[in-house]
Amino acid sequence: MDATMTAQAADTVSSIFSPVSTPAAREADLARMVLWLSAVVFVVVGGLIAYSVVRFRAPAGEQGSEPPQVYGSAQVEAAWTAVPLIIIIVLMLATGRVIHEIQAASQPPNAVEVTVVGRQWWWEIHYPKLGVVTANELHVPVSDSANPQPTFLTLESADVAHSFWVPRVAGKTDLIPNKTNRMWVEPREAGTYLGQCAEYCGTQHTLMLLRIVAEPPDQFARWVEQQRQAAAAAPADSVAAAGRRVFLGTVCTSCHTVAGTDARARYGPDLTHLMSRATIAAGAAPNTRESLLAWVRNPDNLKHGVLMPAMQIDEKYLHQLVEYLLTLR
Ligand code: CUA
Repeated sequence: MDATMTAQAADTVSSIFSPVSTPAAREADLARMVLWLSAVVFVVVGGLIAYSVVRFRAPAGEQGSEPPQVYGSAQVEAAWTAVPLIIIIVLMLATGRVIHEIQAASQPPNAVEVTVVGRQWWWEIHYPKLGVVTANELHVPVSDSANPQPTFLTLESADVAHSFWVPRVAGKTDLIPNKTNRMWVEPREAGTYLGQCAEYCGTQHTLMLLRIVAEPPDQFARWVEQQRQAAAAAPADSVAAAGRRVFLGTVCTSCHTVAGTDARARYGPDLTHLMSRATIAAGAAPNTRESLLAWVRNPDNLKHGVLMPAMQIDEKYLHQLVEYLLTLR
């Protein structure tokens, strides 16, 4: 648990030029090559224009006279056709190679399998083979070159088009209703990498944040083990136990799951291990008692347009309810 929290110390860099994962690294190399080639073209073309502007400007006192008109030059025309053509072919081949390498990568037997479902406005995350369900914070093992272990993602959408993007880990892939997309990630360094939905999907597209927590394999295994447990039972007569009754007695259960209780709905995030996550509301707020209180009191204040309604729970019951949520570790 403590180790997980350390790994969740947020990373503030989210540049495609500091990749930590195989697909992102290949894409960053390609982007750099394209930028360098474009820079050379820019300098050559801009340089020629600047030279011509200076060299062939009208001499003082000769305003109004027309310069000599030159028509046609086979060599010059051939050069400015051939050179750009070669550059474009080089860019096309280099891009095609990287796309092919990434898309054709076959899934090794030890790969971690994850299904990510885009929803307005959060990420549902399943590990079908591991029996884990979580939200918004994707845990994956770090892959080392001696013993590579990539994570393969199946991407689906429950409503509109979204796009999965964690810049340091991999390029964007859309999540499209009634279509299944695939992508894979392979972080080489432990850390928490920030991402976000990259396809406009409605009012709170902005706060559809995402993070990948890459952990050493043993730590990842401990996380899986912990996530597989049913929710901790609150001691009888505790405030949390009262909160549990509030939770199970209101419509919370028509959207959320807490494993080991009658709450089994999947419309909202699974709350069984809510407190193992660093944030709530798809990254809109840190996961603290204060945020939880504010969130349940009126979700719209933290995330305008959110589909979770304000339950109008009496303050006393609200505090009990949050006390219960705090036990979902
Ligand atoms: Cu989901 Cu933008």
